[in-house]
Amino acid sequence: MKELSVNHLLGIKYINKHDIDLIFETADHFKEVINRPIKKVPSLRDITIANIFFENSTRTKLSFELAQKRLSADVISFSAAQSSVKKGETLIDTVNNILAMKVDMVVMRHSDAGAAHFLSKNVSASIINAGDGAHEHPTQALLDSYSIREKLGDVAGKKVVIVGDILHSRVALSNIFALQMQGAEVRVCGPKTLIPKYIESLGVKVESNLRKALEWCDIANMLRVQNERLDFSYFPNTREYSQQFGLTKEILDSLDKEIVVMHPGPINRGVEITSDVADSQQSVILDQVENGVAVRMAVTYLLASKIK
Ligand code: NCD
Repeated sequence: MKELSVNHLLGIKYINKHDIDLIFETADHFKEVINRPIKKVPSLRDITIANIFFENSTRTKLSFELAQKRLSADVISFSAAQSSVKKGETLIDTVNNILAMKVDMVVMRHSDAGAAHFLSKNVSASIINAGDGAHEHPTQALLDSYSIREKLGDVAGKKVVIVGDILHSRVALSNIFALQMQGAEVRVCGPKTLIPKYIESLGVKVESNLRKALEWCDIANMLRVQNERLDFSYFPNTREYSQQFGLTKEILDSLDKEIVVMHPGPINRGVEITSDVADSQQSVILDQVENGVAVRMAVTYLLASKIK
């Protein structure tokens, strides 16, 4: 049986193209399962998973929980706001207490880059990184690539522009690694202040003009400005940001080809993307959400099969 090269999913940086292919093949099967009248399989009846979220999340948390439940795993979830972390408990103590309850896998979101990696070195469970600070968000990048593959047949050879707050985005970094690994070309576009200096060393060109970036690409992935991570003002104001970097129907319709529009959510309608673009037939935003469950089922299933 084919298996993943890793025991944890900490980032795209730590996996390879074979892993991605295996995850997608497995996700194809689970996508068929979740479109059946009975959307559940008994695969992980003997596995217990803890979802620990030290940062806010809607889509990712629900998507993981749904994926786990559709695989029949036992699931416990907690948010840091309601936990003893607020009483001064350390990350390792919190997780060791959870593991003492015989948990096999931990899905964690944390505001510190490297938190998932640290955890994997210190506890015995299999760890899935659901976003660590501005570092990586591997399952988001996997579901993004899976959605491109579904819409355009293949990721190889495609041109993808990631627009917006690249500096604070774990989605951007994981996407860059995943897309390049599969043979796509990646550029970024956004205010100079929100483009990290190291980006070109990753083989990613910077385009400061949105129209030019859109004329070049097959796919535009529009990111939210991570207001909660901005420590000072990176651009004059939201109006100016959306005038320069917001995707409108007008620009989209003026291009001489139909590009695919993506967004990881949550969307700030009227800032990085207008409502008519988000709801247009060029947008695959809700397909991304649907595919998120199938891809997370695949990742969970494949990692769980390495525990047994
Ligand atoms: C992203 C995240 O949390 O990094 N959202 C998500 O997981 N769907 C992006 C964002 O918050 O803008």
